Amino acid sequence: MNAVHPAWLRRVNDEGVVLTRDPGCGLGPEAYTIARAGGVTTVVAADEAGLLYGSFHALRLDGDQPASTHRPAAARRMMQHWDNVFVHPVMGQVERGYSGGSLFWEDGALTGDLDRVSDYARLLASTGINAVSVNNVNVHAGEARLLTDRLGEVALLASRFRQYHIRVFLSVSFAAPMTLGGLDTADPCDAQVRAWWATATRRVYDVIPDFGGYVVKADSEGQPGPFAYGRTHADGANLLAAALAPFGGEVYWRAFVYNHRQDWRDRTTDRARAAHDHFVPLDGQFAANVILQVKHGPIDFQTREPVSPVLLGMPATRLAVELQATQEYTGQQRHVCYLPPMWSSVLSTVAARVEAVVTVSNAGEDPYWTGHPLAQANLYAAGRLAWDPALDPIELLDEWIRLTFPAAAAPVLHALMDSSWSVYEQYTAPLGIGFMVRPGDHYGPDVDGYEYSPWGTYHFADRDGVGVDRTVATGTGFTGQYPEPWRSRYESLDTCPDELLLFFHHVPYTHVLHSGRTVIQHIYDTHFAGAEAVAAMVRRWAALPPAVVGVDLHDRVGRRLAEQERSSVEWRDQINTYFFRKSGIADALGRRIH
Ligand code: GCU
Repeated sequence: MNAVHPAWLRRVNDEGVVLTRDPGCGLGPEAYTIARAGGVTTVVAADEAGLLYGSFHALRLDGDQPASTHRPAAARRMMQHWDNVFVHPVMGQVERGYSGGSLFWEDGALTGDLDRVSDYARLLASTGINAVSVNNVNVHAGEARLLTDRLGEVALLASRFRQYHIRVFLSVSFAAPMTLGGLDTADPCDAQVRAWWATATRRVYDVIPDFGGYVVKADSEGQPGPFAYGRTHADGANLLAAALAPFGGEVYWRAFVYNHRQDWRDRTTDRARAAHDHFVPLDGQFAANVILQVKHGPIDFQTREPVSPVLLGMPATRLAVELQATQEYTGQQRHVCYLPPMWSSVLSTVAARVEAVVTVSNAGEDPYWTGHPLAQANLYAAGRLAWDPALDPIELLDEWIRLTFPAAAAPVLHALMDSSWSVYEQYTAPLGIGFMVRPGDHYGPDVDGYEYSPWGTYHFADRDGVGVDRTVATGTGFTGQYPEPWRSRYESLDTCPDELLLFFHHVPYTHVLHSGRTVIQHIYDTHFAGAEAVAAMVRRWAALPPAVVGVDLHDRVGRRLAEQERSSVEWRDQINTYFFRKSGIADALGRRIH
């Protein structure tokens, strides 16, 4: 659908950019050529989307530039919201949301501030995002109705996103034919079920002709799915694909399927294996408009994970990689944690294999969008990396800083943010082991919080050592899910990277890392260093005159840094004390451990 005078066009024209739409220019969809000479910027594209992205590029230009052509690496670049229509008693308005309420819904009703939605659409388009799913993947009863009698609300949101070439998707419940349609089954092979989805989907397209499609979390953490009927996930995904196909819609079917009611005594079940075990045998069986959406790591958005082997093992399936900008396990937007260095390393491995990059949004109704003002950089970079995964993460940060702050703030912001992911990793769970967070809200340390739980996330620390043996030789065999060269690299202690050692191996505390340090000394050293680095960040920020960035923003960041400092000390002391008490091995430097 083509808006005749889209809002963005008027605003960009104010900047003096010459836009030429030339369907015969030979550039593909969304691509553009940009040049700047004598202060005049010209953008040429075959379609309006290309002009849009070229216009935002014009705002990033600094001085004259020879002509260059740009096209997106991934055709689909989606921001997914875990927003609830109704406030959920445990998860609130936004599940794992750290930026206030939802941009779309407030206490059961559509937001009264659709202009804010337009601003958000503009913000996302400026980063290259072209799709958004507006509701939580955990689809509760009230939210399920967005597909049917509350569809008008989705249409209103779509009218705002459309101006910026962003297609709207809905998360749907696999049980909708029963809960909304009154059928007694949701079996994907049942003719009535197929007819129900076909009718419901046609109604969606009657109202939203450029609707993107469905996002589905099935047979996962209590959500309904095809397993209940003895069907496969290909059966389930293809059911929805058939309903969407006549309209050009797509299904984003999530691979996040595992047993969340595991017996912690059972050492043979390994959650890391689950997605590969379920999905790789189905390679080639998904319909043409199904995209399998795979979390970037095999567990769940931990600070450090290897790339999911599913992304390396399904050549006959369309794939999306799922990233998480909302900082569920990385400081919840109270801690500075600039994630693109992690995302870039994932994308450097998988970019050529995926056609979509999906990111769980960290934005909400907060005036700074992201709670922590510096968390905006993650939102910005998620879109930019989906467009071009080869961008250098620190140059990207520099771009965001230049567009957002006066030059005088740049050195301090770089000092705080460049290595903030590494710093976060230093003071939290060590060497890729993950999940030492407080159960439930996932904030702050609790080393044994998940150790005897049903969630399948264990570290197996005892008096001699720590880590999960996932080798083929003696462990769960997870390393065998990787193709070479990863399989051998992770299987062998000689070649497994230090930062992932405890993800793949159970080793004694005295095991010597490639760095030359023992595991226990690495734990002590990194935890002292991480907390010290945060203290230095606090001092750097305090020394920046508030007027440079604005008093309110300076104060907001300062208060969050104070919490980050408190929390980093708590992490340091709990982790160091825990491992000192388990191992009985003293810190070689004699620092205070409790
Ligand atoms: C995590 C998160 C949940 C979320 C789930 C998902 O487990 O804690 O809140 O629903 O991921 O991605 O589906």
